[in-house]
Amino acid sequence: MALINNETINEIRRSVDIVDIISGYLPLTQKGKNFFGVCPFHDDTNPSMSVSKEKQIYTCFSCGATGNVFRFVMDYENVSFLEAVKIVADHAGIDIQIDTRSSKKNVAHLQPLYDMYELSQKLYQNNINTSQGKEARTYLKQREIDDSIIKEFGIGLALHQRDVLTKLFLSKKYSHEDMVKSGLVLKNDYGYLDMYQDRIMFPLWDISGRIVGYSGRLYKTEGNFKYINTRETEIFKKGELLYNYHRAKDEARRLDTVLIMEGFMDVIRAYTIGVKNVVATMGTAVTKEHIILLKRMAKNILLVFDGDSAGAKATYACANELLKVGITPKIVRLEEDLDPDDYIKKYGKERFLRKINHPINVMDFKLSYLKEHRDLTSNEDLARYVQDVLQELSMIEDDVLLELTIKKMSEESSLDESFLRKKLEEIREKKEQKEQKNSQNLPTKEKKKEILNNKYTQAEKNLIYYMLKSPEVIKMYDRKMTYMPTESYRLLARDISYFYKQYHQINEADFITFIGNNQQKMDTLGEILSLPLKEEYTLDEIEDYIAAIRQYNVRYEQRRLKEEMKKITDPLEKAKIAQKIIELKVKGE
Ligand code: CTP
Ligand code: MN
Repeated sequence: MALINNETINEIRRSVDIVDIISGYLPLTQKGKNFFGVCPFHDDTNPSMSVSKEKQIYTCFSCGATGNVFRFVMDYENVSFLEAVKIVADHAGIDIQIDTRSSKKNVAHLQPLYDMYELSQKLYQNNINTSQGKEARTYLKQREIDDSIIKEFGIGLALHQRDVLTKLFLSKKYSHEDMVKSGLVLKNDYGYLDMYQDRIMFPLWDISGRIVGYSGRLYKTEGNFKYINTRETEIFKKGELLYNYHRAKDEARRLDTVLIMEGFMDVIRAYTIGVKNVVATMGTAVTKEHIILLKRMAKNILLVFDGDSAGAKATYACANELLKVGITPKIVRLEEDLDPDDYIKKYGKERFLRKINHPINVMDFKLSYLKEHRDLTSNEDLARYVQDVLQELSMIEDDVLLELTIKKMSEESSLDESFLRKKLEEIREKKEQKEQKNSQNLPTKEKKKEILNNKYTQAEKNLIYYMLKSPEVIKMYDRKMTYMPTESYRLLARDISYFYKQYHQINEADFITFIGNNQQKMDTLGEILSLPLKEEYTLDEIEDYIAAIRQYNVRYEQRRLKEEMKKITDPLEKAKIAQKIIELKVKGE
């Protein structure tokens, strides 16, 4: 692999503006000197990410994510450092040759697992094309899955054999431990055997498109375990991935819309009729990680779950999760209990497209959902319905939607609008009181933390903050500072000092490149960069920080010596230590 040197990397960084690059991924608004946007690295609702044009870095005040332009691209696109450099270089119109094939972002010890999945897929794909794959091919054909889809989605077949894959792994010298770790091989009392036998294999990919698991489907019979998914492994966490994410993300961004379905068969079907901005949760409830991924894809989110009552329930739950983080999804409901796969097969492309082009708003969906199984001519049911809807309305921020719903409900229930408004107000007040109570419980914990975060750690942080700004402060640190007590700060300060010796300059953005692959250091740096400190400093302040740290060291040493003295009985030795303590005292003042 062609290595590119730090100078080139810094040059690439300097030839782009981080504000431009990040604006390409999410909207930023300028407030004063900085730009703000909704942080894509946690389930953010308010714009808590600030981007500094001057420093060429971003910092999230809420989750602490921080970095330069490369780090942003790495984490957003989930690519390696070199791939991020390449992407940024492309923006700048700089032509660099980087071989990124072997530099996928991962941890070396997991590489065998990824490799085993690659290998297993070759085997499975080959199987389906053999004579033993005839029945599976017939099954897929009958489900209207043709050869091109089989290829595109990497569908394969595990044969009715107990350990072909295991033997293949052994022949390639994989350890039994790694085999079991991958989730593809099982260990029982008789030895090792393949996890999947006699199933059609649908690969599952992580967000950067590597195979990390399978869903294996029965095809000869319809049994209880229709699908078997890979168990959770170090590389496969079902709740953290969305089926088809890597294929759908560009199209979703282009259209600023993403469709979510329940099953991967639904996604595959939608794909075949040209709807490509689509992902699946694969039956699990929507998670925090899902929401983060969805937000990266598009602003408009469409829930297209199964048409049955389980699908309605899932839609309701998913919509609420999204509403909680400030996303108002649109809803598509399919008739006759059909899932998207069956719907498209039964009614065809045009009708499905009409359906997704005319989704219903979330409140209308909720009204009809809450009406299901209720008889609104009965006063009891009606009362419960009204209460439920009011609860829902108390979560909604959209005024217009609120007004419209109140009007609708007043007609349905023949209750006065003013009465409904009053009731809504009551619910809101109760909620607020509850929230206040909760937040009152918080500060004690926070306060304790504050006290722990005492003078000297503050001094360490402040000193590093200004070291990043000025060679003058680095030089003072080099001259006067002996030892920072907190390890994480000590390591960072040493790196800054080293960086300066190497490059004869200092700035936050290039320093981030320098420590880039050390997550712990990045976290510490993030903490420091988000300190609410003023930009200018005086030399007196810097002296004070250094003095505070030195004083701490002296006290620490004194305490240590006093403890030592307690253990010693020899009076001469005792006197020696006492002398040391006195010397330290003089030094500390
Ligand atoms: N699922 C699962 N395990 C099961 C059943 C379902 O993991 N035992 C997941 C699968 O990812 C599936 C999704 O939940 O895609 C939706 O389930 P279902 O609606 O039952 O799947 P279908 O897409 O209808 O499957 P098929 O058409 O093959 O019967
Ligand atoms: Mn189905």
